[in-house]
Amino acid sequence: MVDKALKDMTFEDFCRAVFNTKDTFHKPEVMKGIRVISTTQYILGPCVAAYLAELGAEAIKVELPKRGEPMRHTTPFNEPFLYPLSRWLPDKGTGLGFFGANPNELFLSLDFHKPEAIQIMKRLAAKTDVCCENYRAGTFDRWGIGYRQYQESNPRLIYQWLGGFGGWGPGRNRASYDILGQAQGGCFSVTGWPKEYGGMPSKQTIWIMDYWGGAISTFNIIASLYWRDNVSGKGQFLEYSQVHGAQRHLTDFIALYGKTGIVGQRWGNWEPLLCVHGILKCGKSSYPNSKNPQEQEVGFCFVSAFKDEDFKKLCGVVGNAELAKKYPTHADRVGAVAQTEIYPALEKWAADKTKEEVEKAFTGAGLVTQPVLNSNEVANQEHWHLRGSMQWIDDPTFGDVLTQGVAYRLSETPGRIKHVFKPVGADNEYVLAKLCGYGGSEIAELEKNEII
Ligand SMILES: CC(C)(COP(=O)(O)OP(=O)(O)OC[C@H]1O[C@@H](n2cnc3c(N)ncnc32)[C@H](O)[C@@H]1OP(=O)(O)O)[C@@H](O)C(=O)NCCC(=O)NCCS
Repeated sequence: MVDKALKDMTFEDFCRAVFNTKDTFHKPEVMKGIRVISTTQYILGPCVAAYLAELGAEAIKVELPKRGEPMRHTTPFNEPFLYPLSRWLPDKGTGLGFFGANPNELFLSLDFHKPEAIQIMKRLAAKTDVCCENYRAGTFDRWGIGYRQYQESNPRLIYQWLGGFGGWGPGRNRASYDILGQAQGGCFSVTGWPKEYGGMPSKQTIWIMDYWGGAISTFNIIASLYWRDNVSGKGQFLEYSQVHGAQRHLTDFIALYGKTGIVGQRWGNWEPLLCVHGILKCGKSSYPNSKNPQEQEVGFCFVSAFKDEDFKKLCGVVGNAELAKKYPTHADRVGAVAQTEIYPALEKWAADKTKEEVEKAFTGAGLVTQPVLNSNEVANQEHWHLRGSMQWIDDPTFGDVLTQGVAYRLSETPGRIKHVFKPVGADNEYVLAKLCGYGGSEIAELEKNEII
């Protein structure tokens, strides 16, 4: 039953009340009681455990002793005074690539080349709901800690493996990264400028295929938990292929090729299926006196006006009645030749304006528009700070840290960020004592023998 006071509120007040960020830590967590062992590296695998941990699962990240997983030491800004790597290597730090993919977790270190570490992993897996790993196909089976080995002691285990090309087929042993997935999956072939505009394929700088793959795998895991706990009582083995995940996004390009044999082309900041629906260059910088060279550059602004009435309004704003007359319907506008006339005409109008001036003019006409923001601008928007989507947290290890909040909302069981991550092996004593029953001297022995 919805509370009477909530019922009488406007929708805005209702949302503000049920998602009140000040209440988050007083509410229960939806995944509490679910344990996840994350033997993951880079982004694709780690963010699976991160998403579950944001919702309250107990996620234990297991890494190579001392140095941890590669993402910690392959990316820059790894200054020890910012984010220390581990207590064994006080002069080393964790690189920024690790950020965002490992919040709320416990950190255990184990060397899988040592038989004692394998025994510890088996003991942990026996008490675990979910295991997640993204090493090469078969690496964990070779080490004796794959799905089939764990099954003997824990038939309820859900095991998510993420790889490049999947576990069978000629490509199964190939290495993969986000960028390889996007290249193999065809994404780059339709991103970037066409040859006529001096362009080449362009990659997406954010690791979108990794984070998307992680989200889909989390979805798989939650579905499997439902099936285990409500239907079958059984765990299962889950596979996610990074390349398949990337090619899944080609949607209309595959449909076009399948029916007509036409190979989709790159179309820069314009849109092959909709016009106008693209990014305009605005000729004036918003920060001409900035010390940051990128901010001194001209700005960019997205505008959408593919509906006929919106296009008419857009032409009104830019004072180009000719354009409105020449391209009255979407079918007239969407072709390549039309677009190569329309966008330059719009940019001619924007040539003496900042992105904010362009936005103001378009918003005034009721169009959907948005300047392209940089990370400084994104980090300082009041709207997102009010909603806790962008927040300064008091991290128990690192102090004040600016970080994103959880991207989805659950009114009764909200997700939350408790800490951004910890150094390698920070929870060795806690995890080994709590889950494996080791005492202090046994843990010291494991450390001395470089097992942890
Ligand atoms: C990322 C990737 C290319 C790395 O490949 P790789 O390092 O050659 O091979 P693996 O991932 O199987 O890692 C095995 C090695 O990890 C090291 N290792 C990592 N953690 C370890 C641990 N806790 N204990 C012992 N060894 C460990 C070992 O050197 C081991 O090799 P070895 O047994 O021959 O000594 C590969 O794992 C991959 O393609 N993964 C799937 C796609 C993916 O997730 N990519 C990353 C996200 S973009």
